[in-house]
Amino acid sequence: MDWNSILEKAGELEPDLIRTRRWLHRNPELSFKEKKTTEFIADRLRKIGLHPVTFPDYFGLYADLECGGEKEPAVVLRADIDALPVKEETGLPFASEKEGVMHACGHDCHTAMLLAAAEILVGMRKNLSGRIRFLFQSAEESCHGAAYYIDHGILNDASVIFGEHVWSELSDQGINLEDGARMASCDNFTITVHGKTAHGASPERGIDAIAASASIVQNLQQIVSRRIDPRDSAAITIGTIHGGERSNLICKEVVMEGTVRTHSESVRDSAEDWIRRCAEYSAEGTGAEAELDYQYILRPLFNDPKYTAAAREAAAGLFGTSVLMPMKKSMLSEDFALYQERIPSVFALVGARNEKKGLIYGNHDPRFTVDESILKRGAALYAGFAADVLKEQEY
Ligand code: NI
Repeated sequence: MDWNSILEKAGELEPDLIRTRRWLHRNPELSFKEKKTTEFIADRLRKIGLHPVTFPDYFGLYADLECGGEKEPAVVLRADIDALPVKEETGLPFASEKEGVMHACGHDCHTAMLLAAAEILVGMRKNLSGRIRFLFQSAEESCHGAAYYIDHGILNDASVIFGEHVWSELSDQGINLEDGARMASCDNFTITVHGKTAHGASPERGIDAIAASASIVQNLQQIVSRRIDPRDSAAITIGTIHGGERSNLICKEVVMEGTVRTHSESVRDSAEDWIRRCAEYSAEGTGAEAELDYQYILRPLFNDPKYTAAAREAAAGLFGTSVLMPMKKSMLSEDFALYQERIPSVFALVGARNEKKGLIYGNHDPRFTVDESILKRGAALYAGFAADVLKEQEY
């Protein structure tokens, strides 16, 4: 593989790549509302000779690049395109022009990187054999934006899907590409506690839903510490709790919302049952009743070993082996995990942390930003991975 020519082309495209990222950064759009972003990307794809395919009732788009007249294998390269309801505090000259909306997770970077990768790969098409699909996905932040494209056949005949994310917990000298579970599952739940109202001076005449909820919240802490194998990772968090009307009234209903994160399928399978038992029995001990509504949303994100090895080969070929940096698994989740239920997938984390430059704020923080020198690295990696997989088929 001619890694140098990919790097040279990425270097040539860098000024345009940075301009593209800045335009996207200035013009962020929330999940399911990426109209201008979709039009912008379609226009850019047309300019490099591709034929973007959009959807009548959904934003985001894709375009195919046929290489050497072959249909197989087909590699899907995915970038997410949506922004967050965050008020930007970076002070950058190209900060968001939309009040309260910000590319605080770096999806502007992913979009710009994949557009540059498309241009690199268009130039290499004659030397490759197979098909590359560039997928610009809407609504990643909603946790289920990927489902629409899967239902509309985006993965049909595809061999592998590859995604990237700029990552604030990893040095900007590094790229993380490890096998197996890398990001956590995400399942949410609501517990409704039913009591009975009475005057606060006569608690014995009522059933206190707040006291019952306090007991539930306390006992939930024991699921991770006492029910889950210490060698597995899990987090169970109650994030909201609402109930009560007045200081002197026994509360008759409390609603709590929470989330469960784990890298283990077996923990995921058992968490609902443990939470239900904990909620129901804790409530019963106080005379109240609890109901659990549990929503399964995302599996843990899992890197396929064979294709992750190909991605490591591309990263090492492009930037040297020292670029490959280990990282603890993340407890955050990513809707990229939906694709892997159908085909093998690889998700690369491109380091964005640089303490000397003050780049220390996490993804989703109003001060989150990246050193733009990592963008061409991300673009070269997208292109390098696809080229490596398509070239391999000749042997
Ligand atoms: Ni993100």
